[in-house]
Amino acid sequence: MHVTLDMPAAAPRYYQTFHPDTHSVRDELEGGLCRRDASIAPKFLYDALGSCLFGAITQVPEYYPTRTEQQIMARYADEIAQRTSQARVLVDLGAGDCVKAERLFGRLRPRQYVPVDISTEYLRGAVARLHTAYPDLDIVALGQDFSQTLALPDDVGTEGRLFFYPGSSIGNWAPEQALAMLARIRAACMDDGSGLLIGVDRVKSPDVLVPAYDDALQVTAAFNRNLLLHVNRLLRTDFALDDWRHLACFNAEASRMEMHLVATRAVTVNWPGRCRIFASGESIHTECSYKYQPQDFAALLDAAGFSDVAHWTDPEGWFSVFHARA
Ligand code: AVI
Repeated sequence: MHVTLDMPAAAPRYYQTFHPDTHSVRDELEGGLCRRDASIAPKFLYDALGSCLFGAITQVPEYYPTRTEQQIMARYADEIAQRTSQARVLVDLGAGDCVKAERLFGRLRPRQYVPVDISTEYLRGAVARLHTAYPDLDIVALGQDFSQTLALPDDVGTEGRLFFYPGSSIGNWAPEQALAMLARIRAACMDDGSGLLIGVDRVKSPDVLVPAYDDALQVTAAFNRNLLLHVNRLLRTDFALDDWRHLACFNAEASRMEMHLVATRAVTVNWPGRCRIFASGESIHTECSYKYQPQDFAALLDAAGFSDVAHWTDPEGWFSVFHARA
């Protein structure tokens, strides 16, 4: 991207609608913990340390999705750039460190960049870095839980919105929730120059899938267990890390990887006003990561109201990148 040092754009604007320390967040956590099959939503994996740990996961050899997606995007960069040539506003859903979107800047040359992430502290750091590297890029950063609503402020351009949802994060939603999310994205496309560029992980052998979610260095285990430290801060629970081990398994019937935290002994977890007793071996379900056949995902895009779907994959057919027009 061309950098004009003497004509910087305005400083990045931040809009924060997600505030982790609220009653509704505590109610959500408490509800999940007190269910018979306890669960904690995967969005709580992403405090500042969790976001760093996820960054480290993308570097471990077993975790193929990030590098495979990157290879597809690099290999088909010309075709992707051609199909997205009308993009003016790049809306980066689950932006994290913003590095994936940054790779698109050179060809896409967006007028405006709109990173959206629930991990607001981490996002602010990433945006500060980007603003230094691209002072002429208009940045509107949103600290938002876009699983609930996708509310773009008025200063986000309406022409040529390209929603970028990489990394198969859509897989962290059950298919009916994924459809609702895609429909929300479609509703936020305001003209026919708008569209969606999305990465989707595919069904494959558990011999590849399970190590990707249970790497030898145990970075994924740390990522999963760090969730407990995050919940300790949010709900004032007294989870002790030693009482919980990481478990990753493939649920073939539901076509998804699952992460759980399994109690290594009988544990009572306390927090103000309540407690939950876990038997040894009982678990907390922390994440689903759905894997798709390309035709099933294309059908989901169609059902959400997108059209003219293009699809690229890697030689092994492990991962897919889709572009769909509004
Ligand atoms: C962010 N998301 C797409 C990752 C995934 O593969 O489901 C999160 C992750 N969980 C364990 N490893 C990575």
